[in-house]
This record gives sequence, structure tokens and C-alpha cells, in this order.
Amino acid sequence: MSGRAAAASRAAEEGSHAVGGTVGSLLITGISTLVTNDPQLGEGPLGLITDAAVVVSGEEIAWVGPASRAPAADRMYDADGRALLPGFVDSHAHLVFAGDRTAEFDARMRGLPYTAGGIRTTVAATRAASDEELSAGVARLVGEALRQGTTVIECKSGYGLTVEDEARLLRIAGEHTDEVTYLGAHVVPAEQDPDAYVELVTGAMLDACAPHARWVDVFCERGAFDGDQARAVLESGIKRGLVPRIHANQLTHGPGVQLAVQLGAASADHCTHLTDADVDALASGVTVATLLPGAEFSTRAPYPDARRLLDAGVTVALSTDCNPGSSFTTSMPFCVALAVREMGMTPDEAVGAATLGGARALRRDDVGRIVVGARADLMLLDAPSHVHLAYRPGVPLISAVWQRGRQVVS
Ligand code: NIG
Ligand code: FE
Repeated sequence: MSGRAAAASRAAEEGSHAVGGTVGSLLITGISTLVTNDPQLGEGPLGLITDAAVVVSGEEIAWVGPASRAPAADRMYDADGRALLPGFVDSHAHLVFAGDRTAEFDARMRGLPYTAGGIRTTVAATRAASDEELSAGVARLVGEALRQGTTVIECKSGYGLTVEDEARLLRIAGEHTDEVTYLGAHVVPAEQDPDAYVELVTGAMLDACAPHARWVDVFCERGAFDGDQARAVLESGIKRGLVPRIHANQLTHGPGVQLAVQLGAASADHCTHLTDADVDALASGVTVATLLPGAEFSTRAPYPDARRLLDAGVTVALSTDCNPGSSFTTSMPFCVALAVREMGMTPDEAVGAATLGGARALRRDDVGRIVVGARADLMLLDAPSHVHLAYRPGVPLISAVWQRGRQVVS
């Protein structure tokens, strides 16, 4: 009898026996490749275990190891030779919006460049939408992401740009995720004085928004906010207890990455145009470099050089940047495939960056790993190995998803 079959039959025989005394435990066995993201548990940086099993008890992982040594549980799920991974952690998304920018994308694919100004189109549509419409839009995108394996997703404001609308967007984001980011400084609204707007973002708007957010973000870019303005936005947020993250060095070289490292930001996102000094700063600081290849894909721009960052020892995360302007995708598998094909990452590195990397960018240690005590956020691939996420691009490979121990996709 194989290890898997032995564990299965033990589970069947001892079906009423609960793991750790908790009722409602589930043994997932028959896992061809298990990505734990804990090098202590298995092979290489991903901590790979072959012919593995996992026990989920309540909302948490209760046991991880080879199937031949699996304990019994209340119920059993036979993974039938498929790969099990931690759910994706998408640490950068803009999901609260209304309106449509298909024509802008179409024009870009005919040769027009991407500019930060397109954000204002979405702002107008978002202001005109009801709470119900906006919340339904977020629910649709969160569901779409979940079906592609994303079990944690961050969500920013940034398409309201008035005190009332930014607070409204954050409240709506908070109905769908705990990882809520105040991005009042997305762009200066049409016909507004930039200095007066920064004063609003760091004053009355922050007062209204801080209670609804964990993070503060700013789009530091030509056509959006310069280094001094970005510093003012992030420092005011820090004073109110928000933790900084930043849109940095997306379209041009700029001061964003250095600012992020100086302020100890959780993450510098995009990192497409970096000097050697930027890379050195990231390597010596605590800031994660979050790469968003969906944006380069959808703006037909050169991809960030992940290899250069990894070789310098920088912690890298991969996220979708899902938004209607520069990256209208919720698909982390798509981002993994792009990162491998276009950014010099190995499949192992890309899968790690899309799971544990995202968790690090959100300063979370309860997600992104399959270890005892972690939240039971799991995705089962319809493939024997995690490498298939890059090897089989565009194919819907996610065959089951558990979130907090509950199966949400089957
Ligand atoms: O991350 N860079 C700023 N924000 C988005 C784009 C938003 C938009 O174009 O609507 C981004 O790419
Ligand atoms: Fe973004």
C-alpha cells in the first residue's frame, strides 16, 4: 500500500478520531508536490515535500508532512496526485471603481502611451456610482481572484479623491478585505491646485480615512506626486498609525524607492526603472520590492528586472495591480507566468514571490506558508507540480481552494 493509500485507509478507519482534540479536522492526502514555503520542512527555499499530506483543523493548519506519517482526521480529501500550495497573497490591487476604460486600452495597443492622467476618467465614473454598485464590483473581482487561487487581497482607495469619496471607498473595501490602503494621493484631481490637494490628503482627508485603513500609499511619479509631496503624504499617514507603502519608479526613474527605504515602508511597488543605488537601498532595507507585470503587459512597457533584484538579495513579491487602467487582471497565475518568461525569475522564485512574498509585503506571518498554526488558505492545482503555473500559461489550473479551512472553490 502506498503512503497515500495507507493514510487514506487509516483516516477511513479512524474517521471519528479528531486531530488535536478538535472536531472538524480534514486530512488532505495524495499531494504529489506540497509547497510549504518553509525550507525547514522540505527541499529548497519552497520547502517542497513530495507525496505529502496536510491536516486542517478549524481555520488552521494542524499537521504537515509525508503522507506515510499522516495522522487520522474526521474527513479526508484525496488530492489524487495534484500539487497543493498556499493561496496567493495579492498585495496590490485597486478594486473599488466604476466605469470602463476599454477604449483607452485599445488606443494604447494602437500606439498611444500610458499616462497617470487616465485615472481621472475612473474617478468621474466612481464618484457617480452608488455604494451598492461599487461593492458589487469589488465582490465580483474578489470572487474572480479567489477562483484563481487568491486567498488574501489588498485593496486601495484612490478613485474618489474627495474627503467623502475616499472614506466611502475605504469603507467599501473593508467589507471585502482586512488589507485596506488609503491612496488619496493617487493623482491630483482635475482643476485642483497640487499643493492644496496635498494639504487635503494629509489633513482633513486623512482624518476621515485613517480609521478605515491599515496602510497609506502614494503614486510617486511624473504626472502624479513628486518626492517631497510623497514624503509629506506618507509621513502624515505614519503619524496617524498607518504603515507606508508606495507606487514607485513605475514609468520613470524617481525618488520613490529611496523614500520607501528611508521610511521603512512595507513595500515599494512597480520598481520598473531602478538605478544601482535603488537596488542597493532595497537590498539593505526592510522594504519588499513588489513587481506588477500585469501593468507592463497592459501598457506595453519594459518589464522590471526581477533577476537583478533577487541577485542583489532583495525580497520580491508579485501582485496583479488589478485596476481598470494599467492592469485589468485578477490572475496571479498570469503574473507568475509573465515573471518567469519575461523577468528572469525561476518558477520556484515566482511561486514564492506570489505567495510568501505577498505575505511579507503585507507584513503577515499567518498566510503565505503551509506550516502548523498558519491560516488554512490552500490551493490545489490540476497539475502535479507548481511549475505548471508557468509551464501551462493561460490554462485554468486551480481545481480547489480553501480559505480559513473552508473549501470555497471546488
Ligand atoms: O498601479 N500607478 C498608479 N495606479 C495604477 C494605475 C491606475 C489607473 O491607471 O487607473 C497602477 O498602475
Ligand atoms: Fe497600483
